[in-house]
This record gives sequence, C-alpha cells and structure tokens, in this order.
Amino acid sequence: MRYHVTTFGCQMNEHDSERMRGMLDALGYQEAGTREDADLILFNTCSIRETADSRLVAHLGEAKRLKRENPERIVGVGGCWAQSLKDEVFERFPFVDVAFGPGQVNRLADFLLSDNLGAQGYFEFESFTGDLPAKRLRAVQGWLQVSVGCNCRCSYCIVPSTRGREVSRALADLVAQAHSMASDGVRELTLLGQNVNSYGRDLRPERATFAELLRQIDDVPGIERIRYTSPHPKDMREDVVRAHAELASLCEHIHLPLQSGSSRILRAMRRTYDRERYLDRVALIREHVPDVSLTTDIIVGFPGETESDFEQTLEVVDRVSYDGAFTFIFSPRRGTQAGELTDGLVPHEVKVARLERLVELVQRRARERAERFVGRTVEVLVEGASRTDPDRLRGRSRHNKVVNFTGLARPGDLAQVDITSATSQTLAGDERILTRAAAPA
Ligand code: SAH
Ligand code: SF4
Ligand code: F3S
Repeated sequence: MRYHVTTFGCQMNEHDSERMRGMLDALGYQEAGTREDADLILFNTCSIRETADSRLVAHLGEAKRLKRENPERIVGVGGCWAQSLKDEVFERFPFVDVAFGPGQVNRLADFLLSDNLGAQGYFEFESFTGDLPAKRLRAVQGWLQVSVGCNCRCSYCIVPSTRGREVSRALADLVAQAHSMASDGVRELTLLGQNVNSYGRDLRPERATFAELLRQIDDVPGIERIRYTSPHPKDMREDVVRAHAELASLCEHIHLPLQSGSSRILRAMRRTYDRERYLDRVALIREHVPDVSLTTDIIVGFPGETESDFEQTLEVVDRVSYDGAFTFIFSPRRGTQAGELTDGLVPHEVKVARLERLVELVQRRARERAERFVGRTVEVLVEGASRTDPDRLRGRSRHNKVVNFTGLARPGDLAQVDITSATSQTLAGDERILTRAAAPA
C-alpha cells in the first residue's frame, strides 16, 4: 500500500505530517511520489484564512476524480480545516473516507487497521502527534512539539477551536526526545507550539517555564541551533530574552507577532497587550540582544480599522524596523468573534491598498536591516541547491536569513559564508572553505 500526503498551513502541520508519514511507514505503507500512485491520499489541512480553504477545495477535486477512477482508494482529511467542519466534511465531500483533527492523528492507524470501511471522523483532543514516530524531511533539522492548543482568545483566530486548550508535554520527555534526535544527527531543533513560550504553566505537579526548557535543550550535546515558533509577546519575559543572550545554541532571531500597531485595534483583537507594552518588549530584547533579527505578523483591515489605526501600524513598523514580516488581509473565520462583526467592515480595495503600503515599508526596512550583514561572515546551515541557480547552495543563517552562496559544502554542513550582498529577503555570498565544519557521518 502506498500513501501520499499534501500539507497546508503552518510548521505545526509540517511537523504533524512528518508524524503521519512515520506512523504509516511503521504500518508498512510506502510513500508514493504522486497522488495518482497512491492507495491512500491524505491532506493535512489549514483553515487560518479563507484562501487556505479555497486552495484545499481545489485539491480535493482531484482526489474526487482519482477516487472515481479507483474506488478502492482511501481519501483522508486531517488537520484544522477538518476539525473546524467535523462531520460536515462527509456531507460536503462524500468521497472522503476518514477525517481527523490534529488531536487524533493516531486514530488514522486504527481506521486503516479496522475492517470498518464506512466513513469515520475523529475529532477529540486526545494525544500529541509528537509521540508518534517521525519521518523527517531533512536529516539535520527536526521539530520538537512542546505543546498543543492555545488558551488565548484572539478575536480573529480559528486556532483555539481547531487545536483545543493548551497542553504542554512533560519537560523530561522533551529533553529525552531532543537527545534522541541529536543522536539521529539532528543539529537544528525548532520548538513548536501555538503559543510556544507559554509552555509549562499547565504542567502538574511541577510547573516548568519556557526559559528552563530552552536551557535544558541547550545542554543537549549535538544540538547546535535552537529555534522556536510561535511565541506570543505577552509571554516574552525577561528570562526568555536573557536566554537569547546566554545560550550558545539559541539563535539570534525572535518572531514577535504585532498584528496591529493601534492599541484600540489590539484591544478589539483581544491580544492582551497594547502598543506601548509591545514596544517595551522590543526595547528589552534589543537591550539584551542588540544584533537580534526581529520578524512579525501583521493583519490589515480588521473590522473598525481606520486610516489613523493603520498609520499607527506603519509607525510601529517604522520604529521597530523588522528584519521581515508576514502580512495578511483580515479574513473572517467561522466561529470567531471577529468573523461575526458587521460594523466597520473595511472595503476590500482599502484592505488591498493598505497591504501594499505596509509591504512596501516592511521590505524597505528589511533591506536596510539586511545591509548590516554585508561584509560579515555568517554561519549557514546548508539545506541544498539554491532555488534560482543549481550551481549555488542555499541555507539559513542563525538570524533566519536565507543565504545563497557559492561553495563546496554539503546539505547538513554548517558553512561559514562571507556575505557580499543583501536584498530584503535573502543574503548572498561565498563560502570560506577552509573553515568548513563537516556534518556528522
Ligand atoms: N499562534 C500564532 C499564530 C498563528 S496564525 C501567534 O499567535 O502568533 C499565524 C498568523 O496568521 C497570525 O499571527 C495572524 O497574523 C494571521 N491570522 C490569523 N488569523 C487570521 C485571520 N482571521 N485573518 C487574517 N490573518 C490571520
Ligand atoms: Fe490564534 Fe491568538 Fe492563539 Fe495565536 S495566540 S493561535 S493568533 S488565538
Ligand atoms: Fe492553519 Fe491550523 Fe496551523 S489553522 S496555521 S494549520 S494551527
């Protein structure tokens, strides 16, 4: 039996898909190169914005055709979109055989092993996908799921309803998993949680803190880089900021989602911080880690956002000078508070115009920030060939910049690269071949 998985959405979904693959391999399935070649067609879905939904529906059309050609094929839909629609999935898409939420990926195995071939849905919040076997896409980079769910109630966001309440995994389990990944050859670990830095508060009998978790992972031999996503500004405390200054393997990059620069809109979004508190966090971070790269997420066109609210967002972007930003147009989501709002809706063309102005400023600032790397030598974890030029290599710096360069390094190596030029998105340079650090055999 052969399977094919298509993944949409965030890094947590990429992680969950690696676990799906690991679980299917353990069941004796093999991975197929294309959907046509698969007996089991899986989609790991996202519902964060409307565009995510519509993209998926197009893919499902192809699965429907393949199922018609061969009714023995099994079509499975997992992830946040499936969770948010639950049994409606089967009504709307009768060719789907099995649907499961992010908390019951393990049930896919039960379904495949059972004789019951009727459509099945599994939507409890029951287990961590991080406990399933993994099949990693890259040998030296790994995900570590530290928690699932989110206890925040951001008024625009569907995630609390698709991922459930926040539950942390035990500290000792995470450290043990980090050790075992390191002995498998993982050099860069990305800690994952919907609200990753609120990790540990729910643990009993003993709580743990995110900073403590970072320290213990930093102590794991072989783990040379630690990243984490996504943190919430409200939980970006001094101990975490200090960890960036003190821990050798913790990368000099912090993603600090702003969402809006207007305190009024932040309140309507229920973000629990205002513009001043956010800027205080930035100041604290820059005080302890002056060279840090800061990136962010911003939403434009939230209901009620006026021109003056939007200008405050531009002002924060201008003051903070991010190294990069993901920018989104507000998209009303089913079941969310902001999705129900009918007052103050921002016309589509106004949203688009604001997004363009925002992107222009973000890119200008990001390009200026990137200039600081020109003339410096940065450590790059090599991922493979450059996407634009197969004769060059591509990887990421500790600051999370994509670096394209000429050199002799292999995927998995940590290369030292002399940076010669920069754009808003990428750096370019040449490897210092003599100082190359070899990947473990
Ligand atoms: N847990 C993460 C974010 C997950 S979603 C955090 O709190 O930072 C990633 C980003 O998508 C969010 O930061 C937000 O900017 C954006 N987003 C979420 N819901 C959205 C919506 N309804 N419309 C537009 N953008 C949205
Ligand atoms: Fe969504 Fe807010 Fe939770 Fe992030 S913190 S997942 S934006 S509810
Ligand atoms: Fe999407 Fe769910 Fe991630 S809605 S962004 S896959 S948490």
